[in-house]
Amino acid sequence: MIRFDVITIFPEIFDSYFKESILSQAVKKRLIKINIHNLRDYAKGRHQTVDDRPFGGGIGMVLKVEPIFKTVAALKKKSKAKVILFTPRGKKFNQKMAHRFSKLDQLIMISGRYEGVDERVAKYIADEKVSIGDFVLMGGELPAMMVIETVSRLIPKVIGKPRLLKERVTKEKGFLEFPQYTRPEIFSPKGKIKWKVPEVLLSGHHKKIEEWRKKHTKIIEK
Ligand code: ADE
Repeated sequence: MIRFDVITIFPEIFDSYFKESILSQAVKKRLIKINIHNLRDYAKGRHQTVDDRPFGGGIGMVLKVEPIFKTVAALKKKSKAKVILFTPRGKKFNQKMAHRFSKLDQLIMISGRYEGVDERVAKYIADEKVSIGDFVLMGGELPAMMVIETVSRLIPKVIGKPRLLKERVTKEKGFLEFPQYTRPEIFSPKGKIKWKVPEVLLSGHHKKIEEWRKKHTKIIEK
């Protein structure tokens, strides 16, 4: 079973998301485990704060290395464990990376916030730096949710319809993403205009349907 651990200073962000989604069922079925950790819980004692001013000056605060070090040390339990740090400077997340992560026993994710994280976290604590795209968020909480969701749906039995997965995944290439339609065949939102379903999908002609889907498929590579 894969265990996800997220280190954050805003643990509540995750509450409703993990409660509502398919992921909560996966947790109940013990297919995955998700633990959210408040960085502040590990910053008690002598050094009470989780952030401090940047050396060299500048506006904003930087997350300190010590509480993150302590948290990761306390969490690392499994042999096949990996520690990732979310940063726009990291390697771009994709399906291939998700497949790689899905083979782990434990994925520890550090969600940075504020204006940055002490670079020694990236240098000495994280095994990998991960970006979810070339844009700047306010923190690593959304990236953590994205990684957990993408990796989880690759874990056997998390998605309730294994046939569906099989149908859409080719071994060599990856996930086949094509347009889908359902009833009605014609939808007329303003009476006159007609939004139609492509004829071929109504034809019952399996070979032609397959060809049409192939033509409109985006392959999400493994
Ligand atoms: N933190 C802020 N922006 C980010 C991004 N694009 N990817 C990962 N972590 C981030």
